[in-house]
Amino acid sequence: MLCNSRTGFGAITIAIHWVSVLVILGQFCMGLYMLSLDYYDPYYNLLPHYHKSIGILFAVLLLVRILWSAMNPRPLPAKGVSDREHKLALITHKTLLGLLVIVVVFGYLISTADGSSIRVFNLFEVPATLSSANQEDWAGELHYWFALSVILLSGIHALAALKHHFVDRNETLARMLGR
Ligand code: HEM
Ligand code: HEM
Repeated sequence: MLCNSRTGFGAITIAIHWVSVLVILGQFCMGLYMLSLDYYDPYYNLLPHYHKSIGILFAVLLLVRILWSAMNPRPLPAKGVSDREHKLALITHKTLLGLLVIVVVFGYLISTADGSSIRVFNLFEVPATLSSANQEDWAGELHYWFALSVILLSGIHALAALKHHFVDRNETLARMLGR
């Protein structure tokens, strides 16, 4: 089953969800690590190149994900999930996606602040558009805080999923694992 149904998530939603989790955690760690390197480190230029390239590909995946969930039915809550929990989950999912859009937009604004385009794995270029005073600084600051919010909120979201599985013993997590 590729598409979502009223009773569960389809393979495409599941694949995008778990690939995104890996990319977001990887990008967060790489972002912090690359800024701690000194100029003579062999990874000083390489890691930002990877971080930006993966970030742009992730932005495309995020767009596909948002369009895909708009085109697909939303599964009804698993048995035993209250209306309140379900509403809270929906708000959390939308907030996470919104925060991620903001993170990639600020990432783009840092990288293009000096008017240079972003070379995505040397395959294609994303041109610079906006440029304003101190853009690299304020976009960098906001990029960091929004990325941190994604990590904190997704931590709460993951704890809620584990609670459904181990405490309430309902199907919420199993459905996102394709079972
Ligand atoms: C899942 C998406 C992303 C996450 C979680 C993420 C996370 C981070 C983190 C945690 C930092 C370190 C910030 C600091 O300590 O000040 C960082 C830095 C950076 N990110 Fe991202 N990032 C993402 C996407 C992107 C994208 C799409 C781009 C550009 C196209 C980008 C460009 C940059 C740049 C240029 C820096 C260095 C900032 C500076 O010099 O202050 N990031 N990122
Ligand atoms: C960066 C981390 C994460 C983000 C951004 C994220 C985001 C989302 C979003 C947007 C949805 C809604 C469905 C969709 O559009 O894909 C969702 C559903 C779900 N996520 Fe995550 N997630 C993250 C990590 C995790 C982790 C670590 C777990 C498990 C421990 C998890 C378990 C689930 C479950 C069980 C659902 C289905 C919830 C339901 O049926 O209402 N997620 N997630």
